[in-house]
Amino acid sequence: MNSTQELLGQRIAEKTARVGVIGLGYVGLPLLHAFIKAGFGTLGYDIDQAKVDQLLQGQSYIAHIPSDWITDWLAAQQFTATADMKRLQEADALLICVPTPLNESRDPDLSCIESTARHIAAALRPGQLVVLESTTYPGTTREVVLPILASSGLTVGEDYFLAFSPEREDPGNPDFSASRIPKVVGGLDPASRDLAVALYSPAVVKTIPVSSCEVAEACKILENTYRSVNIAMVNELKVLFTRLEIDIWEVIEAAKTKPFGFQAFYPGPGLGGHCIPIDPFYLSWLARRHEMPTRFIELAGEINASMPLYVVEQVMEALNDMGKPVRGSRIGILGAAYKKDVDDPRESPAFRLMELLIQRGAIISYNDPHIPVLPSMRHYRVPRLASEPLTAEYLAAQDCLVVATDHSAYDWEFIAKHARLIVDTRNATKQVAHKVKNFRKA
Ligand SMILES: NC(=O)c1ccc[n+]([C@@H]2O[C@H](COP(=O)([O-])OP(=O)(O)OC[C@H]3O[C@@H](n4cnc5c(N)ncnc54)[C@H](O)[C@@H]3O)[C@@H](O)[C@H]2O)c1
Repeated sequence: MNSTQELLGQRIAEKTARVGVIGLGYVGLPLLHAFIKAGFGTLGYDIDQAKVDQLLQGQSYIAHIPSDWITDWLAAQQFTATADMKRLQEADALLICVPTPLNESRDPDLSCIESTARHIAAALRPGQLVVLESTTYPGTTREVVLPILASSGLTVGEDYFLAFSPEREDPGNPDFSASRIPKVVGGLDPASRDLAVALYSPAVVKTIPVSSCEVAEACKILENTYRSVNIAMVNELKVLFTRLEIDIWEVIEAAKTKPFGFQAFYPGPGLGGHCIPIDPFYLSWLARRHEMPTRFIELAGEINASMPLYVVEQVMEALNDMGKPVRGSRIGILGAAYKKDVDDPRESPAFRLMELLIQRGAIISYNDPHIPVLPSMRHYRVPRLASEPLTAEYLAAQDCLVVATDHSAYDWEFIAKHARLIVDTRNATKQVAHKVKNFRKA
């Protein structure tokens, strides 16, 4: 163990090490919370000055993250935020939580990781630990981040340390806050891994050291591919069972009683969120470079992407049963977020649903208690509508209500009472479906 490693290890053990989190979004803020609760001083970095300003005023900009957290952090003097990347020198550990989207051709877009790495390289000093947390393909830490950091002239494993630890945040899940989720840690070398394990250990319930950054990177992609493939499978079975007049939801509840060998996944209107629709394509891109197709990933993507069209067909049939064409019908979408109780619209299938219905001449409106105005989306042509208040009049004025997201805030009894037709993609109305005039699961 060299003296740089020893000194940093000591600062971590004494909790005098300052933890820097780069990218203050859905992942970065809960991570800061975990370190602050563990007693560390922190520094948050984001290129978005508006977010930094809001945090410094004690305000959260994410619905399920209370502003009280931020005011407590500030009051305890354990947190400050900055958009000035020259201050990257001030932190002993730098945890990178920046976006990893797909580009227009659905290939990995690592530009945020690369620019963050360049900022770090410009500020890097001996005794710093850098950990990439953003989801990405195996090899990113070694092949993309390391060469950029090497331009600082410092030596990894001696002067500074580099690791990968995938973020497993499940936004809005009250049972699993960041500190309750075990963390997998892979280092570029043993010293880096040991320091990263030492850093995370007081902040999270369990750390799982693995033999390399690549294993840790692949672990995250495996987890998300597993979800994508299994969701696709139940989505396909939903379409089949609906034809067979078997309720997929009842089937899943029954299958869940098997105490081993089965994990429940649920169908829906398509895939949403920052992770599941995107991350598997990081792996298929890498596989293509190694001249290997990833058929499971491609097939799951194909099935999941076809679900909004399936839902639209169900809406058209349900309207048809009532003697109405979709053209000119008023259709209210309930829920625009990609999953319940969050305010995150990224990749939400509700947007594709709206787009498809608009293309067919429907008059679209929506309600989402967490999304007051629809953001403009890169990939979807949907007007920037405002959320409609869920009044009896609004509900009764819709020819069809499509349940796209099953937010807990919805009063299904009230909605069922006033709706003319409900098409439910989430089994949200299971207790009240019999009270709706016209009803269809989709
Ligand atoms: N949201 C999730 O549920 C979730 C779960 C697990 C993993 N992840 C992964 O975590 C990463 C971050 O996701 P997120 O949901 O927190 O994204 P986000 O968009 O909520 O937050 C990212 C933040 O990074 C900032 N940023 C962008 N480029 C930057 C740069 N160069 N320097 C500094 N800040 C920069 C943005 O302004 C934003 O505030 C992604 O790789 C994602 O796949 C997300």
